[in-house]
Amino acid sequence: MDLHVNLLLVLATAALTFADVPYYVPKITAKPLLGRLTNSGFVLEKPQCIFHQYPSDEVWLVIVNNSVLPQLDVPVNLSTPVESIDFERNQYFHIHKTLGSEFPCTDTFGNTADLLLVGSDSVCNTTFCNKPLSTGPFRAIFVVLNNNISIAQSRWSDLITLNPGLQPPVIPNPPRRSAGMIIIVVILSILLAILLACLIAVLATGSKDICWRRSIDNKPLIHLEMVRHYYNYNKHSVYVVHTEYKLMK
Ligand SMILES: *[C@@H]1O[C@H](CO)[C@@H](O)[C@H](O)[C@H]1NC(C)=O
Ligand SMILES: *[C@@H]1O[C@H](CO)[C@@H](O)[C@H](O)[C@H]1NC(C)=O
Ligand SMILES: *[C@@H]1O[C@H](CO)[C@@H](O)[C@H](O)[C@H]1NC(C)=O
Ligand SMILES: *[C@@H]1O[C@H](CO)[C@@H](O)[C@H](O)[C@H]1NC(C)=O
Repeated sequence: MDLHVNLLLVLATAALTFADVPYYVPKITAKPLLGRLTNSGFVLEKPQCIFHQYPSDEVWLVIVNNSVLPQLDVPVNLSTPVESIDFERNQYFHIHKTLGSEFPCTDTFGNTADLLLVGSDSVCNTTFCNKPLSTGPFRAIFVVLNNNISIAQSRWSDLITLNPGLQPPVIPNPPRRSAGMIIIVVILSILLAILLACLIAVLATGSKDICWRRSIDNKPLIHLEMVRHYYNYNKHSVYVVHTEYKLMK
């Protein structure tokens, strides 16, 4: 009985795993990036953990003019990678060739490695370059190719309409600071906070003795306080000593 349940679980897990690619919908990143949708490109989420059953096959992102979608048979038309410089002729192109094994399995917020930029090569000087787009609207799809034969495909993305008001993608690099700089900044912040606290105290009490002079004058007081603690421990001793100190002044 247990064996049967286990077997069923294993089969169900396998079925779910292999169903991942056909059910995946490419989508524009939800991360708050300035260039996620501009007048010449957009930024997609990199699919997580769905291509690992195709470790040595090529995964391509295909961008298609939405108008030609009805004439498009994905396994027939998209099996042979096409360059973006031929977009006029084909109305679709392949970019971001990646082996299935190279897709990430853990997303980290703000990690630009987990994003796919579309239209980000302002200079098209490589094969399958990522040429800036114009007009549209477009749809995106992932295809898995083995020797230029499509063996799996995702779903189509929603309609992607460029944003004519926004300039090309500007993806800021996550700020990198050296450990030394962080330590210096922390120390400076603490010193500044202490200084500020003293300043506020001075302003509040109108006494110049706070922070500097009193800490020197306090030395006998601390000694007295410790003696009292030792011989006559009670929780009011600090208050008593403090009062005495004030009287002494
Ligand atoms: C897709 O392929 C079919 C068959 O080869 C062809 O008739 C059709 O024009 C192609 N569609 C596009 C958009 O290239
Ligand atoms: C796949 O198609 C590309 C052209 O897009 C070609 O350069 C390449 O040689 C083809 N690969 C195979 C294995 O047929
Ligand atoms: C292509 O052009 C970009 C931008 O000018 C440059 O950074 C890059 O090194 C060039 N790549 C090649 C392969 O020439
Ligand atoms: C998409 O196709 C339509 C109809 O063929 C065409 O009018 C439009 O210019 C195309 N869009 C792009 C970006 O080429």
